[in-house]
Amino acid sequence: MSEQPGEHPSTYMVQDRSNQQELERVHLQDQMITTAMGGVLPEQEDPTALRRILDVGCGTGDWSIEAARTLPTLERVVGVDISVHMLTFAREQAQQQGAERVEFASMDALRMLEFPNASFDLINQRFGQSWIRTWDWPKLLSEYQRVCRPGGIIRITEGDFTLESFSPALNRLNELCIQASFQAGYLFTPTTDGITSHLARVLTQHGLTQVQTHTWNLEFHAGTPAGQHLTEDVRRAYRTIMPFLRKWGSMPKDYEQLYHQALRELQEPGWTSPWTLVTAWGRNPGHTSAHLRFA
Ligand SMILES: C[S@@+](CC[C@H](N)C(=O)[O-])C[C@H]1O[C@@H](n2cnc3c(N)ncnc32)[C@H](O)[C@@H]1O
Repeated sequence: MSEQPGEHPSTYMVQDRSNQQELERVHLQDQMITTAMGGVLPEQEDPTALRRILDVGCGTGDWSIEAARTLPTLERVVGVDISVHMLTFAREQAQQQGAERVEFASMDALRMLEFPNASFDLINQRFGQSWIRTWDWPKLLSEYQRVCRPGGIIRITEGDFTLESFSPALNRLNELCIQASFQAGYLFTPTTDGITSHLARVLTQHGLTQVQTHTWNLEFHAGTPAGQHLTEDVRRAYRTIMPFLRKWGSMPKDYEQLYHQALRELQEPGWTSPWTLVTAWGRNPGHTSAHLRFA
């Protein structure tokens, strides 16, 4: 395990924060998913009304940079992440692309967000299921409500686990991931939709109003750029996640065989794989009941 000096251990599935494979995977996945969803905030009625956005667990910063690039009305986009390694890459990307109005800061969102009250119009969080345990949601949502302005939007996007891909080996790997994620506390139920089907309830329970959801039924196909990206994602993910699977008791003896079989099956012509994502969002009521409740 190699931690950056000054960094605390985290709840992230990949403990080694300077893991290059994970950085490359997050970078690829971030771009692939934003493209597949049709942009940074495709379901929002009027993103041009937003001025200040916070992206929590921003990883390599692609979403934040794309938000600033495609929404010229934004005055400030801040990406925060616990990994200094990810943030260094994010800053370099922003500089190379001449992205203005984007900044990145190192922060453990499960401890605190170092911003004054009501600093942002929208809080975005995508793929937090890799670091948020079910019992972390109340405090985290309370902190989102504190840094979001009254009437602002809190927006969460999470993914299902696919057990219906063309590749039986990939389906088995995903099943292992469900079991380990549930054991580790990241899923509410040990099911493919163990996080996505709970999002609206969790947001409502913890004080957000006008909660809505949008489901993204993505399809990945052999021989397409998105299909190639998914293959690269699988190639890296099921290597970097091995210590996590071992720790939470989901590492079968034939893991190596399964891993290589999945990659072979994803080289076959004609394969397809669905991937369902859910975005849930709600309005910040702007009173302090949430803070009092969790104080
Ligand atoms: C799967 S990546 C998602 C990146 C990006 N949001 C996206 O959609 O592509 C999860 C990110 O959360 C970060 N993370 C993990 N624990 C965190 C914490 N406690 N506070 C802030 N970020 C955290 C990880 O370092 C990683 O970059």
